[in-house]
Amino acid sequence: MSSPFATSSQVFLERLGWSAADIAILVDEYKEIQERLTRQYKSTTLALPLRFGVERETGFFLYAATRLTKPQKVVETGVADGRSSFIFLAALERNGGGLLHSFDINSKAGGLVRAHDQWHLKISDPTAPELSFIQSLLKLGKVDFFFHDSDHRYLGQLLEYDFVWPRMRAGGLFASDDVDVSKAFLDFCRRHAQRPEFLFDSRKITGALRI
Ligand SMILES: C[S@@+](CC[C@H](N)C(=O)[O-])C[C@H]1O[C@@H](n2cnc3c(N)ncnc32)[C@H](O)[C@@H]1O
Repeated sequence: MSSPFATSSQVFLERLGWSAADIAILVDEYKEIQERLTRQYKSTTLALPLRFGVERETGFFLYAATRLTKPQKVVETGVADGRSSFIFLAALERNGGGLLHSFDINSKAGGLVRAHDQWHLKISDPTAPELSFIQSLLKLGKVDFFFHDSDHRYLGQLLEYDFVWPRMRAGGLFASDDVDVSKAFLDFCRRHAQRPEFLFDSRKITGALRI
């Protein structure tokens, strides 16, 4: 019996329904993005711990899924220094369109990303981030790709999942980092009769659903 956890992003993407051939094309493309990201790290004074950033396999998953689905609207929560934001934006740039809406509560978030016309970074009031997120999302309309990587407490995760879910476009991709930190993603999927796929990266588990 195969493991319920993919340990490589390529297997994870295949389990989510993409072909190995389509994924393979993106591997070389992503190497160049990683080189750009490495240069960006060298020229940036980080404001937050390096370990906050998405891990290697999750990084390729975000890149490849954005290239494969060509989303018009990506929403991510949790920016830190902007590793995932950088990767999303590199993919959207290659796609030639689409916007990334990122949310954080730390005014120092996003240092790895320079000004970018496909990026909207919202720094929410840390005393009521949920309110700010909900108000912004109400104005955004349907979301094509959602990625949670912010408050990993049970209620923090569940609140975002529950609020974003009805705003997802059919055919969209719904993903969360750190699904091993609380039971929220599992409870959420069970409640919505969804069967997620899991990627076991070096430290954390990412879950995803294609809608
Ligand atoms: C794990 S880090 C994000 C890492 C980022 N995705 C990356 O790849 O570099 C978590 C971030 O979530 C932010 N955060 C915590 N609670 C939040 C909330 N309720 N809303 C938005 N951001 C939040 C923290 O300030 C922190 O920058």
